[in-house]
This record gives sequence, C-alpha cells and structure tokens, in this order.
Amino acid sequence: MSERDIVAALRHRAGEEPEFRLSELQNDLGAGPSLERLAEVIRPHLDGLGLAIRPTGDDYVIGRRREGVLTVDDAGRERQVAFFQNPGVPEYLQRPVEAYVERKTGKSWDDPVVLDRMRNAILAQKSQYWKERQVSYRKAYPVLGYLAYHAPVYLVQFEHIFWQLITQGLAKPHMRILDLGTGPGVVPLAVIDLLGRIGSGTAEVYAVERSEENFEAYNALVPAAAAAQGERVQVEKPIRGDIGALKPGDLPDQIDLMIFSNVLNELRHLDIEGRADLVAALAERLAPDGTIVVVEPADLANATTMRQTVRAIAERGLAIHSPCSFIWGTPCNPARCWTFEQKGNIWPTRLMERLAEGEGGYRFINVDIKYSSALLRKVAEREHAYRVPPGAKFARLSQLHRHRDKKINVVAALMSGNLGDNWTKVYKICDGTPADPTYIVVPKTLRGANRDVLEGIPYGAIVQFYGVLVRYNKDHSAYNLVVLPGTRVERIGCPVSEESRTGTTEIPRPRNPPKKEVRPPRDSRRARRRP
Ligand SMILES: C[S@@+](CC[C@H](N)C(=O)[O-])C[C@H]1O[C@@H](n2cnc3c(N)ncnc32)[C@H](O)[C@@H]1O
Repeated sequence: MSERDIVAALRHRAGEEPEFRLSELQNDLGAGPSLERLAEVIRPHLDGLGLAIRPTGDDYVIGRRREGVLTVDDAGRERQVAFFQNPGVPEYLQRPVEAYVERKTGKSWDDPVVLDRMRNAILAQKSQYWKERQVSYRKAYPVLGYLAYHAPVYLVQFEHIFWQLITQGLAKPHMRILDLGTGPGVVPLAVIDLLGRIGSGTAEVYAVERSEENFEAYNALVPAAAAAQGERVQVEKPIRGDIGALKPGDLPDQIDLMIFSNVLNELRHLDIEGRADLVAALAERLAPDGTIVVVEPADLANATTMRQTVRAIAERGLAIHSPCSFIWGTPCNPARCWTFEQKGNIWPTRLMERLAEGEGGYRFINVDIKYSSALLRKVAEREHAYRVPPGAKFARLSQLHRHRDKKINVVAALMSGNLGDNWTKVYKICDGTPADPTYIVVPKTLRGANRDVLEGIPYGAIVQFYGVLVRYNKDHSAYNLVVLPGTRVERIGCPVSEESRTGTTEIPRPRNPPKKEVRPPRDSRRARRRP
C-alpha cells in the first residue's frame, strides 16, 4: 500500500469525523501496516492537514489541531515512557531529601537513631491512617517519614496523572497550577520532573499548605528542584493556610490545573457535601478550559468516598471528564463504586532501603502505585464521547435483575484490571447506570481465545460484550457476567485482534479479589525486587 493511499484515506476520514482512532484508519485500509508504522507514515502529513496525533493506551487518537495544547516530540515521549517502564525517584530529588533530613536532625540521614525515629513516625502515621484518625504533621519526624515512605510513590503516581492529561490533550504549553494541601511539594516535584524530562511545556506553580513542617520542607525542596531542571517551572511563594479558609485575594485566577492529591480525605471535619462545596467554591478560580484533579488512596473507604464526592462536585456544575463515561446518559450511584488504577511498582529509594534493613523491614517499603482519581472540567467534555446508540440491543447493568441466568449483550467501560487470578479472571465494569457492582468473569474452565480477551485493554476503555451469561452473587449483592466460548468481545474504536497483536498493557492487576473488599496492601514484600 503506497503512502499516497494512506494519506488519501486519512484525508477522507478526517473530513468525516473530527476525531478518530488510528486503528479505525487501519480498518479503513484493510490489511495494512501496523499501527506504529501507520503513525510513522502519517506524521509528516498531519501539520499540513491541520491534524494532531496523540497516543491513547495501545492506540492513537487523531483529531483537529487545537491551539494551546501542549505537544511532546517523539524523543520527549520516549523518555517519559521509558521512565514509566522503570520508575523511581531521580537522584537529583533523592539527595536533597537526604540533605533535608540531615538539616532537620543535625545527623547523617542514615544515622541509626534518625532511621529509628523515622520508622516510628511511619508506623504511627500508618496506624492513624487505618484508624481513620487525623494524620498529624505538626512535628519534624512525621514529615520526614512522609518524605521517606509516601512521597516516592505519590511523586510517580502524579506523573502518571499528569501524563494522562498531556496525552488526552488537556495540558497547555504554559500552565498555571494550584496544588491544595501540597505537603512537602510532591505534586510540584512531579510536574518539575516530568516537564524537565519531556523537554517541553512550562508552568507556574502555586501551593497551599497549613502545616509549618510541611511548608518548611516544601521551601527546602521545590524551588531547588525547579532550578535543577532549568527553571522550566516557576515556583511561586507557597500560601500558608487552611484550604477551607482562603480569602479571595489569596489565590490566583485563571488556573489551568487545580489539584487535590490525597488531601480531601484529610478534611475530616467536612462530610461529602461539605468537601464538594469547598471544591466547587475553589473552582471559581479555574480557567474556562481548566481541569481539576482529585486523587485519593485506593482503599475501599477512601476510593468510594472519593467517587461520591466527585459526583457531588458534578452536581454543583462541573463535568466529570474521566474515568466515568456515562454511556447511557443517566446518573450513576457511586455508593459502592470501588475502582482504582494500578501502575508498575517504583524502585525503592536509598532512604527507603535503609529504613527497611532489619526485621520487619518490609513495613517501610512502599512501592506499589494504586489510586482512585477523577478529572473534572467546566466544559462538558468526556474522555470517551461514545453513547449507546438508540435501539442498540444492549441491556443496562441496572436492569440485570431481569436477565438472571440468561445470555445477554452489554456495553460498558472496563474499570479494573484482573481482580481475580490467572485461573478465574475478574474485571469490574460500569455503564454509568445505577447498578449493583458488576464483574466480567472469565471462568477457570474456559479454554480458547476468550481466556485472554480482556488482556491489554486500558482502564476506562469501552467494550461491547455479546452473549455473556448473567449470574447473581447473593452474598455480595453483585452480578457476574460470565464469558462463554461463544461470547464476542469488541472494544469500541479498537478491534480486539489489534490489542492482542500489539500486546501492550496499561491494565492494573490488583491482587485483591473483589469479593473480600479488602484494602489494597500498603506494604509490599515484593517491593525489593528490581523491576
Ligand atoms: C497526605 S498529605 C498529601 C500531600 C500531597 N498533596 C501528596 O499527595 O503527597 C495531605 C496534606 O494536606 C495538608 N492539609 C490537610 N488539611 C488541610 C487544610 N485544611 N488546609 C491546608 N492543608 C491541609 C496536610 O497538612 C498534608 O500536608
């Protein structure tokens, strides 16, 4: 197939649709080149056609070039993807943390007394967290413990979220960023690190924090990191205060990105409605095309409370951009919505490794990334524009009670990786209707191509299932939709055959079966393996 044919097909499709997947163009071409090869061929022609390409999962989205969207060149993208394949805290960030420990304690960062005090602080913090008590950052050691135990994972976690914003075309070439409850500046550090690595984009970062110790750590770490990365990010003087008591003049306006990272769950004095009121009031400062990121830990209590809070924020006029897709156009019921993403483990830092020496050391290793997040915007625009077409022969998940023990067709977003094991595979799905929790189950007895049919499909992707068997799980008031040998599975906008061919995966693979509804482990004995 000649380059001319490919460009003609591209021109034709771009004339028909404002946005489409590269796999759709590949389908138009019949048995043509691979997606990667196709992307390579069309890239030089995109500018002339007023089009832009961006990766999404194992596919690409092609759409009209939007002014004011941050673009990343191939080399920058490759560097960031390579970082995610082997993630860890870079040396230029590790050493200042160690130096800060030394400055605060007057001793070497790996002095046995210092390490022991940090261990005690980490254990106390974890215990406060699981007892759902207010976590205290009033003294020095809790903040040093946070820097050693939580910050490395949260740093890489926010890079995943920031990268998602960039790849979805939601980041601007210059961004005004506000991080609320910044702690020692984990989110600003992630922004500095990522923009430095991709070598494009600039930002000005504002932050709010109420604890003096965190404030001090922020001032010691964040401006120096920005300088080390060539001042691509301008660090504004952080605001010391309570995010619930900010005065209008305290904050900048026209904010492009407003972040609540692991902070809403700490507003214990506020219920879901109170937290939503607070976010909605602060959203007044958002630019018309700005984005709010809410991210919380993945455990059952925090993740489900977060989904309800996001829903309550949406009721106050903001639109959920992702991960929810509301494909039937109905409101959902998030009360039992436990969904989270998982990304590859990070390398432990030097400090973490020293803390983990000795008996019970695994308690100080925190390397697995699991989080519940949502993007909200003022403009009603979703990551997935798909709506179930009128008259389509799919059952709503909220109507499964009518179809018990029957074979039916459903269409839904994939909202987890394999929650089961290698024998019985279990995936959470959601179609945005107010349904009981619903899972796709690949039984251990199933043989053939359907065993791996959901492998490699990214979190949030929309999938059609033709001929799944409905089973009700009474013990958990949940539905299992069982994949049979004759079940057909098709991802919207991407044929499944393509997914299995490219074999890449973004899918989280949590090890907790959903029936137990256990909290994701925060300690990992697997942690010390080198990725
Ligand atoms: C778990 S830490 C998260 C830090 C950072 N955002 C991250 O993701 O690593 C929560 C931070 O929010 C701060 N915080 C909690 N409630 C706050 C409030 N009402 N006003 C300002 N900061 C608050 C705490 O002091 C703490 O630094």
